[in-house]
Amino acid sequence: MKFGYFDDANKEYVITTPKTPYPWINYLGTQGFFSLISNTAGGYSFYKDARLRRITRYRYNNVPIDMGGRYFYINDNGTVWNPGWSPVKTELDKYECRHGMGYTKISGKKNDLSVNVTFFVPQDYDGEVQQVVLTNEGSADKSFALFSFAEWCLWDAQDDSNNFQRNFSTGRVEIDGSVIYHKTEYRDRRNHYAFYSVNDSIDGYDTDRDSFIGLYNGFNNPEAVLAGKATNSFADGWAPIASHYKKITLKPGESKTLVFVLGYVEMPQAEKFEADGKTINKVKAKAMIEKYNTPEKFEAGMKELKAYWNRLLSILSVSTPDEKVDRMVNIWNQYQCMVTFNLSRSASYFESGIGRGMGFRDSNQDVLGFVHQIPDRAKERIIDIASTQFPDGGCYHQYQPLTKKGNADIGGDFSDDPLWLILSVSSYIKETGDWSILDEMVPYDNDMSIAQTMLEHLKVSFYHIVNNLGPHGLPLAMRADWNDCINLSCFSDTPGESFQTYTNPKFAAEGGYSKVAESVMVATLFTYSGPNYVEILKHLGKDDEAAKAQAEIDKMKKNIMESAWDGDWFLRAYDANGEKMGSKECEEGQIFIEPQGFAIMSDVGKEQGADLKTLAAIDERLNTKYGLVLNNPAFSKYYIQYGEISTYPGGYKENAGIFTHNNAWIICAAAYAGQGDQAFKYYSEIAPAFTEETSDIHKTEPYVYGQMIGGKDAGSDIGQTGKNFGQGKNSWLTGTAAWNMVAISQYILGIQPDFDGLSINPSIPHEWDGFTAIRRYRGATYNITVKNPNHVCKGVVSMEVNGTSVNGCIVPVVEGQKEYNVVVTMG
Ligand code: BGC
Ligand code: NOJ
Repeated sequence: MKFGYFDDANKEYVITTPKTPYPWINYLGTQGFFSLISNTAGGYSFYKDARLRRITRYRYNNVPIDMGGRYFYINDNGTVWNPGWSPVKTELDKYECRHGMGYTKISGKKNDLSVNVTFFVPQDYDGEVQQVVLTNEGSADKSFALFSFAEWCLWDAQDDSNNFQRNFSTGRVEIDGSVIYHKTEYRDRRNHYAFYSVNDSIDGYDTDRDSFIGLYNGFNNPEAVLAGKATNSFADGWAPIASHYKKITLKPGESKTLVFVLGYVEMPQAEKFEADGKTINKVKAKAMIEKYNTPEKFEAGMKELKAYWNRLLSILSVSTPDEKVDRMVNIWNQYQCMVTFNLSRSASYFESGIGRGMGFRDSNQDVLGFVHQIPDRAKERIIDIASTQFPDGGCYHQYQPLTKKGNADIGGDFSDDPLWLILSVSSYIKETGDWSILDEMVPYDNDMSIAQTMLEHLKVSFYHIVNNLGPHGLPLAMRADWNDCINLSCFSDTPGESFQTYTNPKFAAEGGYSKVAESVMVATLFTYSGPNYVEILKHLGKDDEAAKAQAEIDKMKKNIMESAWDGDWFLRAYDANGEKMGSKECEEGQIFIEPQGFAIMSDVGKEQGADLKTLAAIDERLNTKYGLVLNNPAFSKYYIQYGEISTYPGGYKENAGIFTHNNAWIICAAAYAGQGDQAFKYYSEIAPAFTEETSDIHKTEPYVYGQMIGGKDAGSDIGQTGKNFGQGKNSWLTGTAAWNMVAISQYILGIQPDFDGLSINPSIPHEWDGFTAIRRYRGATYNITVKNPNHVCKGVVSMEVNGTSVNGCIVPVVEGQKEYNVVVTMG
């Protein structure tokens, strides 16, 4: 069942009922000011840091769901409603929500009054601008009351949600004409305030929540709205809010347009107040309000925003036989990659904004998805990440975006982390051809006095693996690898212990983790990412170093085939008891997804047919109609030696859930191995646009990926196997976005930046006649036509560039050439 449709021409998803199976959200803002907005206008805003600078309040895990937002209320002669339906939930005569690139339009109609609201955060602007257009579509005059509403958060979202003994007595506001200022703690230690304005006179206001809503009422029936009149309340402690009240009369056919701004301002210490030393200095706020105080200025801002996104999205656009692929590649997957880059894993409807910092592994992988759009910011991000690395190549697992420092609470010793840096740096060079990133001086542990070049960071990353091998010559698993929930050193039997940071006394003396447990996933990630390091060394003429590194890769491949090949697939790990994990010999968890794709893509055991055997096993054991499960069979009891993984009921999260992130590795691997049909099958099982038809089952947004989909074993714990199979969770902020972007664009469509230029080597469904693409790359435009006259999945028989035939799959770079017309014929 669908709850809307894609409007590709406008790059929008149009939601046609407010009762979606889960709130379907969008993000506004790209630089400092961000908002989350659901299809019923729920959500919140923050400035840069979703924990420390939360501007409006939101109630996670609430009943009913999605409580708190920017709401417009109408009281039309006793009929009270919101254009976004919620929170009053009066049945509307018409409802529509359009989520677009950085903006959302919500419109509702009731009793001949139509209200269209557009929300966006302009470029280079620290505020959310909201345009409300009210139209009388009836044949008689209409008089009604309009109320706006926003609830202030007392800045630190964590403190705001637990320190009530203090916070109930700190809230402060100021009112100046039609502008309501939130200035809690501004008098004393803060240099920032927020405001909510409207570009017209008002007939009243409320700034105290209890006066507006009533202590025993809710967002669905605020007393002031029911009464049809504001109370002109002045908050002093308790919960400060901002609500404008305006009486409006419209003739038949008449419209009224209002522009509201919810803004954030920082002031230098010396300029915080007016001459009286008390009144806040509003100069900056007034300038912000002025900037968007007419519909014309509003339109101009929207135009600028659209131009920004059109430019970003024009760097890669494709036209394939499948419109769902086109809308993923050209619009939504690229959009999600940018949002994920901006937000990392901080604030979504599943991430509360107060939990995690930036992940070393996560942020490196994000680079793979957005580097073509904003390479400069990718470079900056890579340097920030690498700056938190330790001199021995180990890494802080997370760092804080405000300080950019490693997070000591989480610490390090996640065995996969260093390898993702090799991938992000190589992908940056492959995209831009800018080798100078390798010469950048980058600190260790944020200490510039021990800075080394980025190349050196790559070296310590590579050798961190080589220097930490276990008994089979495979990388030590440490606290976890990519799978945060495989914690082979933890052995936790006490509630509340973190599986990743708790040190088992057994291993305390040996550095905190087992020197026996090994990760095959890290071994194959090493053989997959390592060759990039070798290529880089060769390019720099460091042939001896390159040969030395290559020898380590070859040795690792040998070790994998000797100790980690289970006959039909690769093992997952050796646990701290030296037992195999992810083997046919195991009772449960016999096959895992993670090591397989990288093994295939680095040709481990290819000569023995390991790649095709593994792909066959994956198809048989892991594939389902909703994607590939992470492991099989699911764990049905607690395996203390494996850590967190078996704490989840079967079919969820890392215990046999469909982790869409590593589904992409198999999509890439199948494409790499020439199985274009299989690759596309796996791609389309999870790609959001393909889940649209089953939105009632999938539940989360059909335009973005979620981290996880309930696997075939979901429900097995309660004897209802299959319950919640196909149900999406944790949408938006996930490495899935980047990896699926890589899978479809670089492996299936095969347009892959390489160190020496753009490589074009598709692996597509055999039915396709071909496709076309436009790719802007290193300052030139590539107009690509792929022909598939013989209906093969893979194989390039000829390539013509500007009419001349060339050998191989890489388009040769011609100095100064701005346009490449490339015709690739498959066969
Ligand atoms: C989750 C993982 C997540 C990790 C972060 C685990 O509980 O299942 O998906 O990455 O926590 O620490
Ligand atoms: C989510 C984390 O953000 C990611 O880094 C990790 O790899 C997966 N969970 C799997 O555990």
